[in-house]
Amino acid sequence: MSGAEIRDKYLQFMKNNGHAIIPSAALVPENDPTTLFTGSGMQPLVPYLLGETHPKGTRLTNSQKCFRAEDIEEVGDSSHTTFFEMLGNWSLGDYFKKEQIPWIAEFYLKEVGLDPKKFYVTAFIGDASAGVPKDTEAAELWQEILAKYGVSNSVAELGSAEEASKRGMKDGERIFYYDAAENWWSRAGTPDKMPVGEIGGGDSEMFYDFGTEHDTKFGEHCHPACDCGRFMEIGNNVFMEYIKTEKGFEKLPAQNVDFGGGLERIAAAANNDGDVYKTDLL
Ligand code: ALA
Repeated sequence: MSGAEIRDKYLQFMKNNGHAIIPSAALVPENDPTTLFTGSGMQPLVPYLLGETHPKGTRLTNSQKCFRAEDIEEVGDSSHTTFFEMLGNWSLGDYFKKEQIPWIAEFYLKEVGLDPKKFYVTAFIGDASAGVPKDTEAAELWQEILAKYGVSNSVAELGSAEEASKRGMKDGERIFYYDAAENWWSRAGTPDKMPVGEIGGGDSEMFYDFGTEHDTKFGEHCHPACDCGRFMEIGNNVFMEYIKTEKGFEKLPAQNVDFGGGLERIAAAANNDGDVYKTDLL
């Protein structure tokens, strides 16, 4: 499947689920002094995630051109680029986990036709210091979906990437709880790094298993968030519902969804070859 076909299918799929297709914003942000480049699809939408009314409604989708200088040290491996396109959909206080997770599973596994046997997911283990609970709802939704696709769906608690590489994965495990370093998303990173006023939330990521041999340079055992190249992150459902305040984390006026999936990586998974440079997009 070509990159253009995947992009079209995604936008059409989200449109059929009530989303307005919005254009990709400029790569150099116009009214955002916090960053030099647009690095994710949510960035031009921050005012609306904070509660402002968007003229196109509460369900939006697009394919956003992005530039990420923070990945520059990793450019040269098979999955990192400075420039990429991010497929994105947003709920501005409209739907939440029980719509997003089944939709995105349907897009990856039915529309793109990825192999459910190679599909792994993660959920947020919670963060007591930020007062954010473990995301059992996301894990349970994934359990139901994976069972429907006829693949095993057991859940494992990994915690940090370091703990994960010590423990490794047991047969049949598909859904993994990780800590904030892996499963919390904000523009600034983990809860402790976020400035007052920044928004963020726990997330649920999707990974594709290319079946290559684990390289122990990256840790004793492999696991979905391991960087050895066997697994590649192909999408991230952020449940954007918190804002950092002087007093700690508070709920935003509405529960939002911020989904982003790298188009080049989804195309690589569709090719069943973990090298994004071999996709037609590059
Ligand atoms: N904003 C989220 C990300 O960039 C979807 O991963």
